[in-house]
Amino acid sequence: MDTAPERRALAARLSASGVLRRDSPWRPAVEAVPRELFLRPGVFLPADGGRWQPVTALSTPAEEWARIAYRDESLATQLDGHLTADEAETLVTGVPTSSSTTPTTVVGMLEQLDVADDHTVLEIGTGTGYSSGLMCYRLGEDNVTTVEVDPRVAARADAALEAAGHSTWTVTGDGLLGHPARAPYDRVIATCAVRRIPYTWVRQTRPGGIVLATVGSWPYGTGLAKVTVNDDGTAEGRIIGRSSFMHARAQALVPLAGDLSARTAYVDTERPAKFPPALLDEWMPAFLAQLTAPGAQFVHAMADDGTQNLYLFDAERESFAAFTEDTSGWTVRQGGPMALWDAVEETLDAWQDAGSPDIASIRLHVTEQAHTYWIGDQQALRWEHRLA
Ligand SMILES: C[S@@+](CC[C@H](N)C(=O)[O-])C[C@H]1O[C@@H](n2cnc3c(N)ncnc32)[C@H](O)[C@@H]1O
Repeated sequence: MDTAPERRALAARLSASGVLRRDSPWRPAVEAVPRELFLRPGVFLPADGGRWQPVTALSTPAEEWARIAYRDESLATQLDGHLTADEAETLVTGVPTSSSTTPTTVVGMLEQLDVADDHTVLEIGTGTGYSSGLMCYRLGEDNVTTVEVDPRVAARADAALEAAGHSTWTVTGDGLLGHPARAPYDRVIATCAVRRIPYTWVRQTRPGGIVLATVGSWPYGTGLAKVTVNDDGTAEGRIIGRSSFMHARAQALVPLAGDLSARTAYVDTERPAKFPPALLDEWMPAFLAQLTAPGAQFVHAMADDGTQNLYLFDAERESFAAFTEDTSGWTVRQGGPMALWDAVEETLDAWQDAGSPDIASIRLHVTEQAHTYWIGDQQALRWEHRLA
């Protein structure tokens, strides 16, 4: 089936929503690259009860398959690091570990990359290869290098790119190391999230070049960092907006669950919380908490007696904050060398005093030794993360 009409309709939607800029050179790429080619052998669609419905290209009528491919949604193509739709017969549970990101996000990021037609690009997180295909169409296959950590995912993407007519450099490897063999690049784009921009990406980018990546370690509350590399090997820029991606595999947090009371048995301090911890369910406070305590994770857990408890755990600093609520409000109990909630509340206080600026107010400077983030010129809104 020829999906040219679906592709043109997708491009029209992306233009109408402002994701594709006016007269964008990415529009011909969206109109040309068949997303359905990159979804083989199949996808997992969300189903009831948090489960996934496997749908394969072979067992789905062409019109239905095209309808799925041109939905503006992320389509999971692998669960739990191994399962593909052709291997699952019925509804399954699992965590997506590879996907075709929603075209809105992919194309929006490509627009933000400020690419010129002769630029070379390094992509981290090939996934299905759809975003690599868009770049190959615009820049030529020789200008695109894409790195995927999972060998089976990389092989499928490579085959799909071939089928779409692009023999590009699909590298199987850990993208956190970039790909020095073809450096320097004009642009680096990551379609998986990273805790911080790896310095190797800065080193492998030409001065004046751009690195674009989602930073943070929580599943939400992450930001799209756009930095320009300087002549001296540092990079500077800002968080340009909210962004959410599955994490680079080595950096994905293992979710804590169950009864965690034993982990919070030895408490150093107990006091009323000034801010409700549920504030961290919101995007910007979550990003600020991650800047303040980069190793911490925010956990909603169920105790054995059925009560819902909230925690901040920082395994690196061996510290925790445990929250309980009663009619008079929230109480926080803290333990370990870092009083996590004291630090987060100080940040939230300073942020509110500054007028609760948006995530796009955050600036970022990267060197080989440290990542510094700041908002305005207040010391309380400045965070330096030194690399060990
Ligand atoms: C959201 S998908 C990428 C979407 C893709 N760009 C597309 O348009 O189809 C993220 C991919 O990053 C890959 N990944 C995770 N950690 C990685 C790493 N350290 N290096 C390279 N790729 C990684 C995952 O295996 C997954 O395939």
